[in-house]
Amino acid sequence: MNIPRITIAIDGFSSCGKSTMAKELSRRIGYIYIDSGAMYRAVTLYCLDNGVITNGIIDREALAAAIDKIEITFAAHPITGKQETYLNGVCVEQEIRTMRVSSSVSIVSQVDIVRQALVSQQQALGKNKGIVMDGRDIGTAVFPDAELKIFVTASARVRAERRAAEMQDADIDEIERNIAMRDEMDMTREISPLRKADDAIELDNSHMSIEEQNEWLIQRYREAIARIEMM
Ligand code: DC
Repeated sequence: MNIPRITIAIDGFSSCGKSTMAKELSRRIGYIYIDSGAMYRAVTLYCLDNGVITNGIIDREALAAAIDKIEITFAAHPITGKQETYLNGVCVEQEIRTMRVSSSVSIVSQVDIVRQALVSQQQALGKNKGIVMDGRDIGTAVFPDAELKIFVTASARVRAERRAAEMQDADIDEIERNIAMRDEMDMTREISPLRKADDAIELDNSHMSIEEQNEWLIQRYREAIARIEMM
C-alpha cells in the first residue's frame, strides 16, 4: 500500500529551530520543504532596497504597486544541495538573514496585502500535499486542514544563544532583544497572529538536542500516518 502523503505545518516562535527540524523531516520522508519566513524576509529585502520602507515606515502605496513584481522562488544550491531563496531570480539567501532584514521583517509581515499574496503562494505550493512548511500561521491560516501540526517553543535566551552560535561577532543581548521584539509583534499583530492551533502538538525544545527533536518529530509523523491509515 502506498503511504499517504500529508501536509505538515510547523509553527512557533522565531529562532526556535523550526526550520532545522522541518528540513530534516522533509529530507527523510521525501517531502517538499518551504520556509515561509524566508518569503516574508525576501519581500522585506525588496522593500528596503526599493525605497518602500524608509526609517521603519512603510509606503503602502508603493508596496501595493510592488507586490505583483516580487517573485520568490526556491532552488537547491548546485554543490551543497541546500535550499536557497531567490528574489526575482537573484539568490538572496545570505542577505535575508542579516540584522537589517530581521529588524524590519515584523513590520512588513503585518501588512494585509503582503500576507494575502504570500499565503496564496504558499497554498499553491502545498496543493498536492507532501509538504513540510514552517512559519507562524501555517497551521492556523495557510493549511488549517493540515494532518500534522506542530507548535514549537523555546526560551528567548536559548534561542538567542543558538542564533549567536551561527553568526560571527554576535551581540547576544541585541539578538535576544530582537527575538523578544519579534515575539511580541508576531503575537499581537491583527492579521494571523502567532498562536498555537487548537489541534497542534506543542514542543518545548529548550533542553533538547537536534537529534532528539528530529526523532520526536519523525515519531509524530509516523503517528499521523498511522491515524490516517486506520480511517
Ligand atoms: O521564521 P523567520 O524568523 O525567518 O521569520 C521571519 C519573520 O517573518 C518573522 O518575524 C515573522 C514573519 N513570518 C510570518 O509573519 N508568518 C510566517 N508564516 C512566517 C514568518
